[in-house]
Amino acid sequence: MKKRVLITNILPPVAYQLLSKKYNVTWNKKPLTEEALAGEVGPYHALLTTLLEPVKRRVLEAATHLKCVANCAVGFDNIDIETAKRLGVWVTNTPDVLTEATADIAWALILSCARRLPEGESLVRKGKFKGWRPLMLLGRELQGKTLGIYGFGRIGQAVARRGRAWNMPILYHQRKRESSRVEKYFHARYVPFEDLLRNSDIVSVNVPLTPETRNRFTLREFKKMKKQAIFINTARGAIHREKDLAYALKNKVLFSAGLDVYESEPKIDRELLKLKNCTLLPHLGSATIETREAMATLAARNIDLVLSGKRPQTPVFQL
Ligand code: DGY
Repeated sequence: MKKRVLITNILPPVAYQLLSKKYNVTWNKKPLTEEALAGEVGPYHALLTTLLEPVKRRVLEAATHLKCVANCAVGFDNIDIETAKRLGVWVTNTPDVLTEATADIAWALILSCARRLPEGESLVRKGKFKGWRPLMLLGRELQGKTLGIYGFGRIGQAVARRGRAWNMPILYHQRKRESSRVEKYFHARYVPFEDLLRNSDIVSVNVPLTPETRNRFTLREFKKMKKQAIFINTARGAIHREKDLAYALKNKVLFSAGLDVYESEPKIDRELLKLKNCTLLPHLGSATIETREAMATLAARNIDLVLSGKRPQTPVFQL
């Protein structure tokens, strides 16, 4: 009997194509709630999930045959890791393949915020562009400004690497300091969190969402940042408190913010939506054809390895 795999969402077809050669694959194309997933999961040996499916305790406990949850995302805050470990279920993610695409989106937001691109574009589309004006939509220069990175993993480092093209001094903060070899390579300096806030012209959030990073940026942190600072979040929305960010932007505590992620996605704070000094994207970090195909391929490969009795390529913990 072929082992059974459930693909829980719409994905590039490559995942289905690869898996269906060996397994009995069901491809669900509508969002599944936690309750629905708990009801469905029983007969499956592996789940290929996205960040939209909550694979929480009741789902995992209802899964009698489950060996692997392969998340098609680098983040895995939609999965109850402790329960998966306890039940001996592998959890895998898709690091590396989305690093460059996500760093590009962080930089798209940095440029958009610094040069006020949404305001300019909206002016043109509304027919309000009456020709060049000496003081129209003046933004901020990026050359030589300090780039502060909160979370110096793969994506944070790729954001830093791009910053070198603008001759930016790089500061970073995370729980553990990197080796001097890594710091030297990226010309990056480790600083305490408060110093990162005080000294950066741009703060880019690149940490995973954990109990420690949830609501790490509130009005208190925004007030410690420079008045002309730009705040960028391409990681997870719950790392900043959205109402506080809207307040900080409205009251010119910050110059601008660029967001790809939201606290209660897809809901967005109403005040934030009214503000001009922010660029708001619909979670596009990894959204390129090449990257999404690579993510789906890697997730499928992880499932195949586990169901063949091997160690997955990118586990999020060891079993
Ligand atoms: C991730 O991978 O965690 C992104 O948020 C979605 O691609």
